[in-house]
Amino acid sequence: MRAVVLRSPGEPPQLEDVELSAPRTGELLVRIEAAGVCHSDYHYMTGDLTAPLPLVLGHEGAGIVEEVGPGASGCIRVGDRVALLWRPRCGRCDACISGNPVLCELGAVQAAAGGLPDGTSRLSMADGGELHHLMGVSCFAERVVVNENAAVPVPDGVPPEIAAISACAVITGVGAVFHEVREAAGRPLLVLGAGGVGLSSVMGAALVGAHPLIVVDVDEAKLDLARELGATHTINARDDDVVERVLAITGGAGVPWAIEAIGRSQTLQQALACVAPGGTLVAVGLGATGAEFPVPLNQLVQRQKRVVGSLYGSSNPPLDLPRIFGLYLAGKLPLDKLVGDRLPLTEFGEAYERLTAGAVGRGILVP
Ligand code: APR
Ligand code: ZN
Ligand code: ZN
Repeated sequence: MRAVVLRSPGEPPQLEDVELSAPRTGELLVRIEAAGVCHSDYHYMTGDLTAPLPLVLGHEGAGIVEEVGPGASGCIRVGDRVALLWRPRCGRCDACISGNPVLCELGAVQAAAGGLPDGTSRLSMADGGELHHLMGVSCFAERVVVNENAAVPVPDGVPPEIAAISACAVITGVGAVFHEVREAAGRPLLVLGAGGVGLSSVMGAALVGAHPLIVVDVDEAKLDLARELGATHTINARDDDVVERVLAITGGAGVPWAIEAIGRSQTLQQALACVAPGGTLVAVGLGATGAEFPVPLNQLVQRQKRVVGSLYGSSNPPLDLPRIFGLYLAGKLPLDKLVGDRLPLTEFGEAYERLTAGAVGRGILVP
């Protein structure tokens, strides 16, 4: 099959012919219908994040089950439509048992091996050479083999591109609001970054009634979309002083909750400065390996601010993703507005050029 292969960071990935072997015990073969153009893949292309190479890119996908491996639970059958999760789940470790499978101990195994949760790969180069999975998925490809725990059934009425983005950007952004923010109704909330993740936080914040809902970006078109999705105030960080504006909007108080969906030191510092005494900064955006941001100690202590990290929206993905599909079907999350350009898989290079050039909405690749 054809797949987008990253051989070394800094060099553009290439569409190549690769081999995909049959699903093993408890695994599924899925034909990909849609894959989201997420910023996280770009971090691997540039080398900001590292993983075993060469690998097939893509971790935000959905498709149709074509084959069920031996010994699978039977919960998912051939012909089912599924969205793919990029964190493994063993079901037995402390994190899994306590309902926080995003921190499952298999996560480290999968990441270090560049394989599926058992540490092995179903991918190989056409010449038989080693080829790794990215985050147990690798959906910039015609097909994937995944562990059955990585597949969540998609109900009728949820299109493939909505299913794909829901399994990463949407659950991350919406989940950060649902799981890290308390009693938001009628209180200010700040979102920094209006990409796929940040705009999902905006939708989640609008749904729980945060007000005023303030959104920061450097791109006017993205801020327009943020307003369409429920932002009451937008700030273009190129033109305005973010901290000054947020304090002005909140009558000098600051915001009880700020969600940073960019992953930069400067915007994390701005976000923390905007947080009211007793308030919380929720860090959602990933930075480069080893990235840091300075925290003014006395601001933290004397104003009792909190900083929390949130991976995968601090959600329990197999439990929360069906709820997101339900909210979409009920018209409470306008996820269609988040979908940007649709391009064939062959145009993945163009898709990432558009992402870095500031394309509005989530790009979708269709194999
Ligand atoms: N100030 C404000 N906004 C900024 C700034 C800045 N200094 N720099 C970038 N942005 C905005 C961009 O204009 C863009 O709209 O941040 C947004 C980032 O969105 P995307 O590139 O679409 O990224 P997304 O997929 O939403 O992911 C956000 O979370 O885990 C991650 O790796 C991912 O770092 C990425 C972040
Ligand atoms: Zn993603
Ligand atoms: Zn586990």
